Amino acid sequence: MDRGSALELLKKYLKNDKLVKHCIATSAIMKELAKELGEDEERWELLGLLHDIDYELVEGDMKRHGVVGAEILSDYFDEDFCNTIKRHNYHLFDPKTKEEIALVASDNMSGLIIACALVKGRKITSVTSKTVREKFKEKSFARGCNRELIAKIEEIGVSLDRFIEISIRALVGVKDELGLD
Ligand SMILES: [Fe+2]
Repeated sequence: MDRGSALELLKKYLKNDKLVKHCIATSAIMKELAKELGEDEERWELLGLLHDIDYELVEGDMKRHGVVGAEILSDYFDEDFCNTIKRHNYHLFDPKTKEEIALVASDNMSGLIIACALVKGRKITSVTSKTVREKFKEKSFARGCNRELIAKIEEIGVSLDRFIEISIRALVGVKDELGLD
């Protein structure tokens, strides 16, 4: 499946534009991470794009989040892909594989960097690694973004500093789609 078709599929299930943007942001980071690690860029990009496909369907039921998404996606993707989608729900699972760790870290990192851009007047191009490093330490800032899961990226061979750098670059690359400057 190409990115365009995946986005179309995602929009069939997600009507909230903010959620779609969150998926686009997570996807951009996943793609850059794959490039960094020599993994399949297209696959990681789609994992990021589709990871929250069931978010509106499960209506906040965290026991079903990811599980329902994996079911939807099983018509289109292989078992490993769907398992990663299911297991990205870190309320239920502990991320174990490279893909899972990358996805939960990107899921949380995208929120943190977007929050940094918002305090800079929506200017993602004004967000520096230093900003993100400081906000990472400030636990009350964007409190929903789980720092521990972001830091797990080091387990798959990417330093936190490098991850921040990669993630900012990824989001600058899709800034128009995210409605940021
Ligand atoms: Fe997410």
